[in-house]
Amino acid sequence: MDRRNFLKVTAATGALVAISPSTITGRLYADANIMFQTYEKVQLLDANGAAIKASSLVKETNYVFNYPFTSTPSILLDLDSPTAQDVSLKSEDGQEYIWKGGVGSKKTIVAYSAICSHQLAHPTPDDSFLQYCTKDKKTMAYEHGGVMVCSSHLSAFDVSQGCKRLAGPAAQPLASIIIEVAEDDTLWAVAVLGPDKFHEYFKAFKPEFKKYYGGKREAKNLVTANAKMVPLTEYTKEIIQY
Ligand code: FES
Repeated sequence: MDRRNFLKVTAATGALVAISPSTITGRLYADANIMFQTYEKVQLLDANGAAIKASSLVKETNYVFNYPFTSTPSILLDLDSPTAQDVSLKSEDGQEYIWKGGVGSKKTIVAYSAICSHQLAHPTPDDSFLQYCTKDKKTMAYEHGGVMVCSSHLSAFDVSQGCKRLAGPAAQPLASIIIEVAEDDTLWAVAVLGPDKFHEYFKAFKPEFKKYYGGKREAKNLVTANAKMVPLTEYTKEIIQY
């Protein structure tokens, strides 16, 4: 067990709790309303079904995989420098939690739920308004690139600090997907940390679920065993970024 992957979650009571995503299953502390939940441990595979290795990731590329539900997109990034560590974040309703930082040998790999915390914009097979804007690009949402941008209403989030909100109408961070890098360099998604928007998402996009997944019930199925992860340019037809 990799102790560096331990999470410290600050409860509403202020108590600090240390937990390891790899050893816990099921909902944690539901009654205490702590924003951490383990889901199925899922291996990230490429479009051909081969295991993706952390060392094969292309820097600053948006990789998309659906997790923890069949229809909920997540974005994984290998940043060009190590992230901050032990970042204190807060949800819209004031709950605090600690984001431990990037994973992998250089602490550069991060993943976030790609459902905007403002009004739920997200990548679909047709288009995407939410993605990471590389450092060499400009965005209207923030003073520089190197940030997650939602071009729906121009919110920006700091990917090196747990997707903390930087600018725009979003009132809280994007939820984090907890990733583990195994000894053989394979990548696994294991949990969600922070204020996810899954409940609102499932209420909002019924026609979309029918179009892409066969229906709402299918859209709410948990991903099990593995998930296909592809560059955003393969996941969606059109990337919209301002
Ligand atoms: S939906 Fe993302 S900024 Fe409004």
